[in-house]
Amino acid sequence: MTLKYLLLESAGFGIRIVKISRPQTLNALNTSVLQEMKEVLKKEADDPATRVIILTGDGDKSFIAGADISEIKDKSESDGVQFAQLGHEVTKLLELMPKPTIAAVNGYALGGGTEIAIACDFIIASEKAVFGQPEVSLGIIPGFGGTLRLAKFVGLPRAKELIFSGRRVKADEAYEIGLANHVLPAENFLSQVVEFVKMIGSQSCSAIAQSKKLLNEFSETTGLNFKLDAEALAFGRLFGSEDQREGMTAFVEKRKPKFKGLEI
Ligand code: COA
Repeated sequence: MTLKYLLLESAGFGIRIVKISRPQTLNALNTSVLQEMKEVLKKEADDPATRVIILTGDGDKSFIAGADISEIKDKSESDGVQFAQLGHEVTKLLELMPKPTIAAVNGYALGGGTEIAIACDFIIASEKAVFGQPEVSLGIIPGFGGTLRLAKFVGLPRAKELIFSGRRVKADEAYEIGLANHVLPAENFLSQVVEFVKMIGSQSCSAIAQSKKLLNEFSETTGLNFKLDAEALAFGRLFGSEDQREGMTAFVEKRKPKFKGLEI
C-alpha cells in the first residue's frame, strides 16, 4: 500500500515509529488517514521485527488535531456511525495488539487526537502537548472510544468534566491527572522518547504480550465492543442535529457557534 499520510521509521531495538503527517490540517484524521493507520497497524502487529510502536505527529505543533471537521461536517447519521466504527477499528488495534503502543504526544492532541493517544498503552507528552475533548463545542461527542477510555486514565468525574467542558489540558496538568505518564522537554522530544522506550524494546516480547493481555482483561475490556457500538450510534445520532451543523459550520467559518437547547 502506498502511504500518503503516514511516515514510518525504525529506531533500532525493534522500535517502529508511525508518524501522522497532514501538515495543512495539523494532522487531522480524515477517512484516508484512518484507513492507512488501520492497514499499517495490522501489518506492524504481525511483523516479527516490530517489538514496540511509537505513534506521533509530524512537525512540532500537533500530534493529531482531531477528526477532519471539513470532511465530517456534512455527514448523515449512518455516515457518522461508520466514521466512528473506523476510528474504533484503529483504536482497538492500538489497545489490543500484543505489542506495546506508546503515544508520543508532541503538540495538540484534541478530540480524536486524545482518543487515539488513550487507546495506546500509555502516553509520553512533550511539554508542548495540549489534550482535550472539544467535541461538545462542535455539537457532537467523542466517537473514537473517548466516552469509554478517558475515565480509565483520569477517573469518571474528571472524564465527565473534560468531556462536558471541552477545555484544554496542558502537559503539566495531563501528568498530574494521570493522562500522561511522563512529560519531556520539547527539544529533541522524539529522540528522548526512543531512549526511554529502548528499555521496553529490549525485554521479552512474549512476556510483554502476556502482561498486556492480562492487564487489559483485568481492567475490564469485557463488553468493549458493546460499549463502542453504543458510542458509535450516539455519535451518529448527533449528525444532522442543528447543533452539529452549527458547531462544525462555525469552526469552518472561524466564528463562535450559537447552540440551541436540548434537541435529542
Ligand atoms: N479538522 C479540519 N481542519 C483542521 C482541524 C480539524 N480538526 N484542526 C485544524 N485544522 C486546520 C484549520 O482549519 C486551519 O486550516 P486553514 O489554514 O486552511 O485555515 C489549519 O488546520 C491550521 O489550524 P488553525 O486553527 O489556524 O491553527 P491554530 O494554531 O490557530 O489552532 C487548534 C490550532 C488545533 C487549536 C485549532 O486548529 C482547533 O481547534 N482545531 C480543531 C480541534 C478540534 O475541535 N478537534 C476535534 C474535532 S471532532
